[in-house]
Amino acid sequence: MRAFCAILSTCLCLCLAEDEIIDLTHTFGKRTIYWPGNPPFNFSNVFRSPFGVASVEANAFETAEHSGTHMDAPRHFCPEGKRMHELVMDRLSGPGVVIDVRKQSEDNLDFQVTEQTFRDWEEEHGTIPDGAIVLFNFGWDKFWPNRKQVFNTEDVMNPSTFHYPGLSPNGTKWLTSNRKVHAVGGDTPSPDYGQSSLFETHVILLCDNGIVILENVANLNSMPATGTKVYIGALKLENGSGTPVRLFAVPMSSASVTRCSMLLLALTLLFAERLY
Ligand SMILES: *[C@@H]1O[C@H](CO)[C@@H](O)[C@H](O)[C@H]1NC(C)=O
Ligand SMILES: *[C@@H]1O[C@H](CO)[C@@H](O)[C@H](O)[C@H]1NC(C)=O
Repeated sequence: MRAFCAILSTCLCLCLAEDEIIDLTHTFGKRTIYWPGNPPFNFSNVFRSPFGVASVEANAFETAEHSGTHMDAPRHFCPEGKRMHELVMDRLSGPGVVIDVRKQSEDNLDFQVTEQTFRDWEEEHGTIPDGAIVLFNFGWDKFWPNRKQVFNTEDVMNPSTFHYPGLSPNGTKWLTSNRKVHAVGGDTPSPDYGQSSLFETHVILLCDNGIVILENVANLNSMPATGTKVYIGALKLENGSGTPVRLFAVPMSSASVTRCSMLLLALTLLFAERLY
């Protein structure tokens, strides 16, 4: 009986632990970082009043699309690209792939991911699955929401002074030609590195391939390299070229949960058999 309880509780713990959802989103508010040139964030009170034994509260907010943890729809860079409300749901989820390039980015603030980065990752973790949401951990989360550190400049209004890592156009071409991914993103403000002026990686992803982009992703240190499903909780914004998102990852535990409940059932039957 004691052994049975031990196994039962271990099993339950495993089931619960595996179901923990990982939030990949920075809190959205006054400190949220915007690309220079965007209007400021505005949050205001519509009403706050007592209502019987409760109280009613409602606020209004105004925000630029491309701010905080957010996504780019193809229309952001492409005249024929899809807008937010036109994206099919299938595009907004997929197996999570986290590529850890913190070391390379620390050694070189202008580091750019190449084909080799993908090959090294695949050697360790296997082929990037179809429909993947590929997220780069550049180690930038720790700078949020310090604007000067995130853009890595003294002049946050001048993009030509920005320095942060990104994806090289060549590396991006390798990915899009050889793997079928749904989204590409990272914890920096752009998949093009800070010194880019042509934003070629944006164009390759959004225009040539209709792959959506995720920027200023949070909390990648808590994500395993594989074994999750990522969901892009995006506003279905009419005509939008992008929107802030609630990005999250769910460990792909359904298989193990099923295994776990089967084990529980087997144990229960075994136990019941002993009793009678
Ligand atoms: C990237 O591609 C360009 C041509 O588009 C080529 O000149 C360059 O050598 C390539 N770089 C790498 C690192 O493969
Ligand atoms: C979206 O664009 C269409 C076509 O130009 C227009 O009719 C519609 O009013 C726009 N919607 C919004 C919310 O701007």
